[in-house]
Amino acid sequence: MDSQSMQVDENNPEGNHAALQQVEYQSGTAHDLHHQAESAQHDRDASNNDEIRSVAQDSSVDLTETAFQSEGYFYQDDDDADSALGDDRASSTRSLSESIFNYEYENGRRYHAFRAGAYPLPNDEPEQDRMDMQHHIYLLMFGGELYRAPIAHNIQRALDVGCGTGLWAVDFADTHPDTRVTATDLSSIQPTWVPPNLHFEIDDAESEWEFSEPFDYIHIRSMAGSIGDWPQLLQRASNHLAPGGWIELTEFETWASTDDNSLPSDSAYHEFQVRLCEAAAVFGKEMNIAPHIHDLVRNAGFADAKEEVWKCPLSPWPQDPRLKELARYMNLQMMESIEPYSLALFSRVLKWDNHRIQTLLGNVRRDLRNLNYHMYSKVHCVYAQKPYE
Ligand SMILES: C[S@@+](CC[C@H](N)C(=O)[O-])C[C@H]1O[C@@H](n2cnc3c(N)ncnc32)[C@H](O)[C@@H]1O
Repeated sequence: MDSQSMQVDENNPEGNHAALQQVEYQSGTAHDLHHQAESAQHDRDASNNDEIRSVAQDSSVDLTETAFQSEGYFYQDDDDADSALGDDRASSTRSLSESIFNYEYENGRRYHAFRAGAYPLPNDEPEQDRMDMQHHIYLLMFGGELYRAPIAHNIQRALDVGCGTGLWAVDFADTHPDTRVTATDLSSIQPTWVPPNLHFEIDDAESEWEFSEPFDYIHIRSMAGSIGDWPQLLQRASNHLAPGGWIELTEFETWASTDDNSLPSDSAYHEFQVRLCEAAAVFGKEMNIAPHIHDLVRNAGFADAKEEVWKCPLSPWPQDPRLKELARYMNLQMMESIEPYSLALFSRVLKWDNHRIQTLLGNVRRDLRNLNYHMYSKVHCVYAQKPYE
């Protein structure tokens, strides 16, 4: 089946539910990505002593039904909700100056040092593992494809903005050997062994872009909460695209959706998403940017921007086995996301102490194991071509 079948039809919520049940993606993808995640890990700084909590890279991780049942997933019995709770142990450049490696530590997590404080998520090993897992999830959703824009296979230059651990850029460079790929990030967390047509730069995407040649394709993914001025970012991208070049943005909605109102408004998960968006707004970098990226791209002069909306379940509640597998990866990724996304924002902005934060996060993890909550996130992918004149 075409992976497009998972796209959301806003006018037909029932059909969307059915589409969720039917989605398929290429078999073998999980294995391939598992392998890529391992390769990337080999390249990371071996002297880093952070605890590795990877599930993507741990071949002992069991994603079978039995494993999920034994790890505290539950259907809530309304008469005795507490007795059903599982335990809470879900594992859970321009110039490379030295300051880039002088990391900062806070609440047990490691943060970037270049432009310190600009980005509220950590850059330590657990966070890198989470990014690798998210790359895997995008591939599962997109049927193994790295992008949706109809770019030519032999474009000359491509840019990945905020590349994280660089897996997307590595895959893109590998599969487009004629393309020179540049990938930038605030953190130096990319592998050193990469395809010869790829290079990484430590750079702030919110500073003036100094690339000397135009790109044919610019890729921006999962940058919610990273960018203070989206119109300016998109204007810079437009200025650095060749005529006819493509831009593509992909973002998860921060807000969980359900088709059956199964997430109570007094749930911990609901409080989490409200507080996260609140804190990010005060911080000045909007978290729930996904619903706005279509307009942002159009307003930057890309008149014919196309938007695709996909559904990704947040816990393994769907019945369809393939969708359930996607949901299992997403659920593990969510378990590993909630702390990095909230820790600095809740402590620095909301002034919560760590105990209060961890108490909420414990309850959010419980909600993520509650299979009565049919939560999914809408994933927006917008792509557009720069006009020729
Ligand atoms: C959630 S990760 C997404 C990584 C990657 N795009 C992906 O899809 O896997 C966001 C990344 O953006 C980087 N970032 C945040 N603000 C940035 C900025 N102003 N300039 C460059 N990179 C930035 C972070 O360091 C982090 O690696």
